[in-house]
Formats: sequence, C-alpha cells, structure tokens
Amino acid sequence: MKRFVILCLGLIINIAVAAAADIENGKKLSSACSVCHGKDGISTYPEAPNLAGMSSIYFEKSLVDYRKGIRQDRRMTLIASALSMEEIKDLAAWFSAFEVTVKLPEL
Ligand code: HEC
Repeated sequence: MKRFVILCLGLIINIAVAAAADIENGKKLSSACSVCHGKDGISTYPEAPNLAGMSSIYFEKSLVDYRKGIRQDRRMTLIASALSMEEIKDLAAWFSAFEVTVKLPEL
C-alpha cells in the first residue's frame, strides 16, 4: 500500500511538471510569429491581431480551434497545425506575460 501511494504521488508530480508551460521555449518559438504579430506582440500586419498580454485561455483556444478547423484562416490554420499542444502552451505563457499599457484617445 505504501509503495502504491508513493507511486501515485510520483505520477502526480510527473504530470504536474509535464503540464507546466516553458516560457523560455515560448519566447524562442515566438520568432516565427513576429513577422505578422510584431516582436513585441503588437501587430505589424493589418490583418493580424495583437498578441501582447492576451489571456492564455483565449490564446490556447484560438490555436486549438485553428487546428481543429473550427476557426479557419489560410495562414493560422497552417501555423497552428504545425504546433504541438505543449508548444501552444509555451507560446501562451510567453505572450500572456507581456504587460500592456493603453492610452485612450482624448476627446
Ligand atoms: C503570415 C502572418 C502570420 C504569422 C506568421 C502568424 N500569424 Fe497568427 N494570425 C495572423 C492573422 C492574419 C490572424 C487573424 C486570422 C483570423 O482572422 O482568424 C492571426 C490570428 C492569430 C491568433 C488569434 C488571435 C485573436 O485575437 O483571435 C493567435 C492566437 C495567433 N494568430 C497566434 C500566432 C502565433 C502563436 C504565431 C507564431 C507561431 C502566429 N500567430 C503567426 C497572421 C499570422
């Protein structure tokens, strides 16, 4: 029984470690996104949205939807299909960590 408990604990810890996003890897992978979404996550391409500070939940959902074909875009469908679930989580950790400040227009 003791062995079983230790084995279970080991498994839980392994799963927790595997699930933790690797923000450093997200930073590396993001170089493939900067041509359209900007190096700082502020889009340089008029059709592409800003990714800086985007909620990781929304970010992950968007990429999974492109992968599944629920959401379609000729560029993002290709890009998302080439990413693993781990890579998507790493990228989400990176872009969601950006701090964004906003200046409202003066009216
Ligand atoms: C060739 C240009 C291009 C590149 C490179 C590119 N994207 Fe995109 N991305 C777009 C466009 C255009 C859209 C908007 C598509 C649409 O209308 O659904 C988009 C949308 C997205 C969205 C949805 C955002 C939202 O507000 O709904 C996410 C998330 C995203 N891209 C992440 C990435 C990531 C991560 C990479 C790099 C691995 C990347 N993109 C590379 C052009 C690009």
